[in-house]
Parts: sequence; structure tokens; C-alpha cells
Amino acid sequence: MTLLYRNFLFEVLCWRRRASERSRENRVEIFKKDDIIWSMYLIEAPVLFNKEIINKHYLMGLFAPEVSQEAQPGQFIHLRCTEQYDPLLRRPFSIHKVRKDTLEILYKVTGRGTSLLSKKREGERINLLGPLGRGFKINLSFTSEIILIGGGIGVAPLYFLACRLRRFPLTVFIGAKTKEKILGKEDFMNQGLKVKIATEDGSEGFRGLVTDFFFSQFHSSIGAIYACGPVPMLKEISNFSLRHNIFCQVSLEQRMGCGIGVCQGCVIKGKDRYLRVCKEGPVFEAGEIDWSKISLQGR
Ligand SMILES: Cc1cc2nc3c(=O)[nH]c(=O)nc-3n(C[C@H](O)[C@H](O)[C@H](O)COP(=O)(O)OP(=O)(O)OC[C@H]3O[C@@H](n4cnc5c(N)ncnc54)[C@H](O)[C@@H]3O)c2cc1C
Ligand code: FES
Repeated sequence: MTLLYRNFLFEVLCWRRRASERSRENRVEIFKKDDIIWSMYLIEAPVLFNKEIINKHYLMGLFAPEVSQEAQPGQFIHLRCTEQYDPLLRRPFSIHKVRKDTLEILYKVTGRGTSLLSKKREGERINLLGPLGRGFKINLSFTSEIILIGGGIGVAPLYFLACRLRRFPLTVFIGAKTKEKILGKEDFMNQGLKVKIATEDGSEGFRGLVTDFFFSQFHSSIGAIYACGPVPMLKEISNFSLRHNIFCQVSLEQRMGCGIGVCQGCVIKGKDRYLRVCKEGPVFEAGEIDWSKISLQGR
């Protein structure tokens, strides 16, 4: 923790605020010598709504024009869940939806930070840093089918991605434990997308894991796979895509400290180097990660 703060404070001292045409006040740029190595906004974003959509899962809308207009699918925001310093660290959330001036996050209450977040009311402000990280790569020459696979709360970043990929042939696989826990189905369907559901108890759609459902439906004209969800799911999908030589990107989660590449708190083992999930990720190509060294714990 001490090292984390020493690095962080050092980096803060190196920050220079620069006038930017669009947001003079809020843009933060980090420089190494004269090169910008990181650019983001630090804003107090008003909460537009914060509603429980299913048990312990919330959808929060934030007014954040600077961020929503620059965000790319797969990027995340780092939120302070309270105005006090306990919990001290920000919490990362994928950008779920963007409209012109607003963005939405879809989150699950898992602990102290998310519980505090769930109590935020319309009009309150949340300290937001973002957009952060590297998002999904979109190849505009896609011609074959694209598959999105979301497990549980892992659907969160996929909706934003689906909106960007709408003009391609797209199928969304959603996995959940039970019918009551399916997330995002209506939103994807309202976009006119083909949605396939797997529930572990068989209460809707395929009975079993979403990975098994996808593998059973696999055909050779699939051109790309994008996935987010529990680590074992991502590992299986990555290995499958590598075996079949299909372009595949996964969005990973790690506990985070700074969220901006400084503290090394989110490092994972890549194939040929260590990777910071907040900076080189959270989206990685399947083959970039050394899956044998990744903890299979996860949401
Ligand atoms: C890039 C990124 C994007 C994310 N996007 C979303 C999202 O869109 N929606 C969402 O609900 N959550 C998302 N998460 C996870 C979210 O950040 C954590 O659930 C949150 O930080 C937990 O905070 P807490 O204080 O409530 O829980 P804590 O009290 O810190 O922890 C409660 C439990 O959650 C586990 N946990 C905490 N952080 C993580 C994590 N990063 N990954 C896996 N398990 C964790 C802990 O091991 C513990 O069991 C994302 C994480 C990352 C790194
Ligand atoms: S969270 Fe600090 S380097 Fe990634």
C-alpha cells in the first residue's frame, strides 16, 4: 500500500493540466517527457438514475458528456463510491451504454463499494475518472458472423460493443444461473439482435453453461468472438478460439488500485510479458494471456 501511494503521488506530481478545447477544467493528461501517455477526465458526474433491475443488480445513469463522447466499447470508468476516504480506492466499472451526454453502468452489489454506490440517489454527484483502458478492437471488414458471449454481469461491456457492431451479422449468447438472473436480454433484442440464452438450471433456453451452448452451436463461418464473464469461461473460450484460429478478444477483471497504470496492482501474466489490466487491458486478445497463470477466481 505504501509503495502504491508513493508511486501514485509521484505520478500525481507529474500531472499537468492542459487547456483542452472541449473541457478546459476536467481533462487530465499524464506526460512522460513531452509525450502524452494517458489522457482522461476527472469529473463530478451527477447521477441521473440508479435503479435495481434484478436482485442486487443496478443500472446507473451518469451525466458525463466529456467521457461519453470519447468512450470506446470495452473501456471502463473508475468511481469513488463515497465522498469519505473509506473505502479509499476507486472501483472500476465497464461502460455499459452511452448516449450523447450520458453513460450507464450495470453493476452487481458484491461488497462495500458497490453497496455504497447502490444508495446513490438522483442528483448526487460521483467522482469519476475515465474513460480508461483499451477497449475492443473492431475490424470494419468483418464479413462473417460475430459472436458476443456474456456470462452473468459480464454482459455489461457487451451492450456498448453490440451497438457499434450492429451493422454486422451478430449473435449474442447470454449465460446466467437462473432465468431470474438473465441480464440485458431485452436491450439486445430491442436492437434487433439474435439472442441465445443458457441457464445453469435450465429455467430458460439451453440447460448448462453458456460456453457449452456456444460450442454446440459452433460453425465454421464465425469470424470473431468477444467475451466477458467469469475467468474460467474466458479461458475456455480463448482456448477454443485459438484451436479454431478465430479472432477472439476477452475483457478481464482484476482488483485495481490506481486504474491508470501506475501501481502495478492489476498485473497478470501475459505470454511474453506482464500486462496491466487497467492499461494494456482490460480487453486482451485470447493469445496474449498466459491462461495457465491466471487465477480462476472471479465474479
Ligand atoms: C475493468 C473492470 C470492469 C468492471 N466492470 C464491472 C461492471 O461493469 N459491473 C460490475 O458489477 N462489476 C464490474 N467490475 C467489478 C467491480 O469493479 C467489483 O465488483 C467492485 O470493485 C467490487 O467492489 P466492492 O467494494 O463492492 O467489493 P469488495 O468489498 O472490494 O469485494 C467484494 C467481493 O468482490 C470481489 N471483487 C472485488 N473486485 C473484483 C474484481 N475487480 N473482479 C472480480 N472480483 C472482484 C472480491 O474478491 C470480493 O469477493 C469490473 C472490474 C474491472 C477491473
Ligand atoms: S490498477 Fe494500478 S496499475 Fe493497474
